[in-house]
Amino acid sequence: MANLTVLRHPLIQEKLTYLRDKRTTSRTFRSLVKEIAGLMVYEITKDLPIREVEVETPLAKAVGKEVAKEITLVPIIRAGIEMMSGMLHLIPHARVGHMGIYRDEESLRPIQYYEKFPPNLKETKVFVIDPMLATGGSALGAIEFLKEREVEDISFICLLAAPEGVEAVYEKHPEVPIFAAALDERLNERGYIVPGLGDAGDRLYRTI
Ligand code: PRP
Ligand code: URA
Repeated sequence: MANLTVLRHPLIQEKLTYLRDKRTTSRTFRSLVKEIAGLMVYEITKDLPIREVEVETPLAKAVGKEVAKEITLVPIIRAGIEMMSGMLHLIPHARVGHMGIYRDEESLRPIQYYEKFPPNLKETKVFVIDPMLATGGSALGAIEFLKEREVEDISFICLLAAPEGVEAVYEKHPEVPIFAAALDERLNERGYIVPGLGDAGDRLYRTI
């Protein structure tokens, strides 16, 4: 799938294995999500444009570098919040726009219930963040919301992707790259990713 990049760094893959394990506690699950998200964003941002800036060291002037494009992280509440926190640790100057979306359990359709965005969104590079790309409904809801606000530079970052979700995004928005820690086999009859890791929000916040 041309729009998908799977990040195969050994540390990401090892941590993902612990995340999938049903014996992993919520406390460890939350830490792992943050750690993986940090490693992912480190890889994903390696080709960001940079510009030269002058700084004064205690001894002399030096030419340094800074990222030349403003970054906006857009976590999909709830489960995207912990990933965003891991990324913000590495990009502390990023802005954050929150989107609340949940799936209706019967229809699996996305229900949008909240949004709060920084200004000048369309000039920034936007990373939409959600651990699970299942049917793709939530991702599409977020991408369409951003495109309606003229945002052009959108990437989607998830931990696990199902082929169905990757295809759904590609069909409507082939220019939006998807970065994932793994591409899983399929969705089950309830729209869960298999083998997956279960319900990300429930495992993060012990709502089971
Ligand atoms: C989960 C997940 C995604 C969505 C993915 O959220 O965090 O947002 O499902 O599924 P989709 O690709 O089929 O849309 P959920 O609806 O469980 O909401 P929550 O974060 O509030 O738990
Ligand atoms: N949402 C989750 O949290 N897990 C899945 O497997 C699919 C959607």
